[in-house]
Formats: sequence, C-alpha cells, structure tokens
Amino acid sequence: MKQAWWKESVVYQIYPRSFNDSNGDGIGDIQGIIEKLDYLKNLGVDVIWLSPVYKSPNDDNGYDISDYQAIMDEFGTIKDWENLLDEMHNRDMKLIMDLVVNHSSDEHHWFQESKKSKDNPYRDYYIWRPGKDGKEPNNWESAFSGSAWAYNEATDEYYLHLFSKKQPDLNWENPKLRQEIYDMMKWWLDKGIDGFRMDVINFISKVPSLPDVPNPEGKKYVGGGEYYMNGPRIHEFLNEMNQEVLSHYDVMTVGEMPGVDVEEAKKYTDPEREELQMVFQFEHMDLDSGPNGKWDLKPLKLTDLKENITKWQTGLYGVGWNSLYLNNHDQPRIVSRFGNDEEYRVESAKMLGTFLHMLQGTPYIYQGEEIGMTNVQFDSIDDYKDIEILNMYKEKVVEGIEDRDKVMESINVKGRDNARTPFQWNDSKHGGFTDGEPWIKVNSNYTTVNAEQAINDKNSIFHYYRQLIQLRKSHPIIVYGDYQLILPDHDKIYAYLRNYEDEKLLVVTNFSDQYVKFELPRDVSFEAKEKLISNYDIPETDTLTLFSLQPYEARVYKGE
Ligand code: NOJ
Repeated sequence: MKQAWWKESVVYQIYPRSFNDSNGDGIGDIQGIIEKLDYLKNLGVDVIWLSPVYKSPNDDNGYDISDYQAIMDEFGTIKDWENLLDEMHNRDMKLIMDLVVNHSSDEHHWFQESKKSKDNPYRDYYIWRPGKDGKEPNNWESAFSGSAWAYNEATDEYYLHLFSKKQPDLNWENPKLRQEIYDMMKWWLDKGIDGFRMDVINFISKVPSLPDVPNPEGKKYVGGGEYYMNGPRIHEFLNEMNQEVLSHYDVMTVGEMPGVDVEEAKKYTDPEREELQMVFQFEHMDLDSGPNGKWDLKPLKLTDLKENITKWQTGLYGVGWNSLYLNNHDQPRIVSRFGNDEEYRVESAKMLGTFLHMLQGTPYIYQGEEIGMTNVQFDSIDDYKDIEILNMYKEKVVEGIEDRDKVMESINVKGRDNARTPFQWNDSKHGGFTDGEPWIKVNSNYTTVNAEQAINDKNSIFHYYRQLIQLRKSHPIIVYGDYQLILPDHDKIYAYLRNYEDEKLLVVTNFSDQYVKFELPRDVSFEAKEKLISNYDIPETDTLTLFSLQPYEARVYKGE
C-alpha cells in the first residue's frame, strides 16, 4: 500500500465560533485559535480542519458563505488568518479549510445578481425553475424543514435550496461557475493551505429534470436525495476538479457525503480515478435512528455497528481510504451517545477513542472530544441556536404535529448544538471560553469537565488520547494493517485484529456497563507480546486470551 502523510496523520476539527474567544465578544475567533495551538501540539495532532471562517451572514454558522475570499468579521482579518497558517506551519501542523460549494449564501454577490433578472449573466450560477400549478417546481424537502424551493418575485421563479433559504444551491452544470470555484480553490492553495474538507460535495450534481419524489403517504414535502446524492455527473465534476486544481498540489481532501455507500466510496477514493482521498460516510451515524430519520430515536445495537464498520474497513482496504470519526459539529457528543456520560464518562470516552483510533483509516477528533465533553440538554428551546433544530421545532411543535416533550427529548439527544457549546477550558466563568457573554450557553458541567483539569490529571481522557496518537506514530500496523473482526455476534464486546507483515494487534473493547468475559475464539491465532494501551489497570494474573472486562474497558495487545 502506498504511504502518504495524510494516511499517517490525526486530524483535529475546530468549530471556530465555539473554540476560544480572544476579544470578549462571546464568539470564538482566529486569534483565539492561535492562543491554543500549543495545546493542540501537546495533544499531538498533525492536521487541523477549520470549519468555515469565510464572510457569512451566519444563517447556518458560516456554512452560508457570502465571500469565499474574505474572513468573517467576528473571526478576524485575513492577516490574522495568515498568521494562523504561519503559526501552524511553524509547529509542523497542517491546515485544511472547509470548502462549501454546493451552495453559497443568498448574500453572495453572484446570487444578488442572479436574482435580478432572467438574463442576468449570473442567472445560471444557481438553479432556477418556474412554479408548477402555482406551487413549487417539485416536492423536495429541505434538510432544514419545509420546501427546498423559495420564490423570487422579481423574476417569478423559484430557486433550489437543499439547506436554508439563505443557502441557494450552485449550478454545477454551468462551466463558468465551476471555473470560478476552481480559481478560488487555487487562491487558497497558493496561500499555502494543505487541503480541503468538502461540504456535502456529493450533492453538486442533480438529476437535471429535478423530478418529484414518489410520495405514497401524501406528505407535503419529501426527501429527494435519490435525485441529488451521488448524481449523474458527480464523478466527472470531481475528476475535473482534481485535474484542474488538486493534482497540482500535495494536499489532503475529504468529501463529506451523506448517502454514500461502500461501492460509491470506492469510486470517490480510488487513487487511480483521481477524485478525492477520503469521504465522510454517514451510515454508522444513522444506526441509532428509526425509520423516520434522525429525530426518531433508537438505541444502538452493537452488532449493527460491527457489521457496518466491518463493511467499510474491508471494503475500502487496498482500494481507497477510510476516514474515521464519531464526532463533528453536526453530531451529538459520542460519550453521551454510544458511551455513558455519567458514572463511566472517563472510561467510556477512552474506550470509544481506542475503538476508533485502532481502526484502519485517518482519525478525526472533534474539539472537546479529547476531554470527554458531553451533550448539553437545555430545557428551553430559546437556548438552542441551530437552524436545523429551530426549524424542525417550529414545524413540529408550533404547528402542533408532535408533542413538545417528545421533540425536546430528540433535540437533547440528537441536536447539533450538543457539539457546539463553547469549549470548556477551565472552571472559571463560561468555562474560560470568553470574558463576555457566549453566543450559546456553556454546558454547566464545565466546572468538572475542562481542559485544565484534564491536563493536570495524568489519567485523563486527554492524556489517553495523546497516547493513542503517539501509538499511531510508532506502529505502522495501526496505519497500514488490515482489519479482521472477531466475535461478530457478541452484543457487548467489539473486538478486532489488525495484521501487517509479521505483526498483529488485538483490540478488545467493552461497549457496556457490565462485566463481561472475553475469550479469544479458538480459530483465531494470536500470541500477545505486549500491551500497548488500556483504560484500566490490568491484573497481573490475566492471561492474554481469556479475561474479564470491566465496564467500558478497552485493551490493545501487540503480538504475532
Ligand atoms: C454539512 C455541514 O457539516 C453542516 O453543518 C451544514 O449545515 C450543511 N452541510 C450545509 O452546509
């Protein structure tokens, strides 16, 4: 397998709005990130992915961009950003930027022009259609509730917005638009960035006829994904982007791709096809959703997780490359989700980290994961800020479709603001995030869960993550070895082997709050030589193939 720096790296995602506020306006900023680079260096991460820092009216916290080549006022200036890049490179860290080009903000000058008239030179930068029978052009639903179309009076047509009304979709069928995007990407790459994370990049090619979705239940609006996820020209567009831009730089790329499966991901990430290096797939993040989608709560079944992860681990091995994540700014906190954020917060956070970091692929850590930050549970809807949450609440509660308590429960469990509360630096007011009033409330557990505490406690999740990252640096098997699931049917233990040259790794994790017995199956050959890491003190008397696991215990042995 070909070696590459981005295969050997650990990535850390920063959501700038919530990371560190240096000027007391309650909003995190670039200067605030610079202040914390030594903290990240100490953690040991190699690459930082910055969620969008571009000019934006913040309808969706920066994922609605009004100028791709300017910095958001609240975050600082382009000078600050250049300073950040230098400070990172000085520390031998790389920077990847968020590329949000499925849509722009409606305040982008392209859209301001586009909406003026049907013959405006920018008209074709967006997706416009006349209404049908006095209604929207089709029945697609926006990811943020309601129709995916908004009416424009001046031209008596609708524009498509798969996300909010203020995020009109760009028309990738237009070669001029594509060229503008490629030029913009080159502008950032020439400034020295090290790659891109690409927002919903598998949505950019729509089935041109934009057909109605079959709607047997007669809902007002319905999905639509089959007509825009992994659409007809997607591979052509990404290959073109690669030829025009990416292939001229030594950079890392990861495409966020809801609705991608292994077969499609192979096409996106096979180096021979010259598209991207990795994708963020969503299947494992959907395992705790019922048939009615994300807000339809369902407990995770461990065997489903095994089946899914195993499919990806073996499917991409030797063809493409996996990205590994359990958290990001769109997902609830994993320790509250697949772990236990009360009695076993520390143990289960370490267990989940072990499970993820020993898999094959490039791991991503989301800010706060390394100190075991938890979900938040606000009692009042007014404390939530996320457009996805607020629109859904409005649709379901205000319009009386569902019971308020049920909706609040699903928001508390699944809402994106769980990941967006301010980073907890210490036990001072607002967790040390700001001297002012934070834009969103701090999680009240900041007095015990915070970075200062974690750094001072040698048994903390933070120090455990440091170890996990260091192991990757000193054991090529973690990066390049293959993956083999063992005990596929066990409902509490997730165990797997990695194999590379003459070496093996055995990873054993207990996903439950029970004591469980682990026994290496007879047909699996593994002779343990050395314990690499574990989240409990392991009794001297344990044999290496038969032992009892404590709640949320994790162990990794190296052997042959
Ligand atoms: C995916 C991003 O991660 C999410 O935060 C955003 O709301 C949508 N794409 C729209 O840009």
